[in-house]
Amino acid sequence: MIRRAQINDLNRINELGLLLDNAFTTKNELNKYLDSDIYILNVLEIDNLIQGFILATHLYENIEILYLIVDKDYQKCGYGKELLNSIITNNDHILLEVRNSNENAISFYHHLGFNTINIRKNYYDNGDDALIMERSI
Ligand SMILES: CC(C)(COP(=O)(O)OP(=O)(O)OC[C@H]1O[C@@H](n2cnc3c(N)ncnc32)[C@H](O)[C@@H]1OP(=O)(O)O)[C@@H](O)C(=O)NCCC(=O)NCCS
Repeated sequence: MIRRAQINDLNRINELGLLLDNAFTTKNELNKYLDSDIYILNVLEIDNLIQGFILATHLYENIEILYLIVDKDYQKCGYGKELLNSIITNNDHILLEVRNSNENAISFYHHLGFNTINIRKNYYDNGDDALIMERSI
């Protein structure tokens, strides 16, 4: 089931976020994403446990995906796409940023119709570039 995140979900969201970004907790004050008009924080719940989430901003038709994470045990089952679709309505223009070393995510986004429109050189602390990808429906 995919649903809006609630306060009780935040510890598990932090746990998942830290798998991708070791500064996740310091960068994100998750409370402020609950019941927000601008942020969307949706979770994937399987057997009463949170196994993935998506965090995005939504301003008019523009969506920016900040994080999309599915627990390793549940990847390649269609849940990443389901989470993505849960925040999209018609005519949305979607942007996101991904590390150039994250080949798995880049292939996933390509598969779902995203194109790379820009590269930010040395964007991350370890010198990785950031790819800016977009999809217009
Ligand atoms: C990237 C990620 C969210 C993908 O989620 P997922 O649940 O494994 O992907 P899905 O099973 O929903 O895949 C959806 C579609 O993409 C395809 N796909 C998935 N991974 C793919 C890959 N590495 N290469 C090509 N296609 C891929 C699937 O085959 C599926 O295709 P279909 O709709 O035609 O059947 C997941 O791997 C993840 O959480 N990775 C770690 C966190 C991360 O890097 N997040 C992105 C940066 S914020």
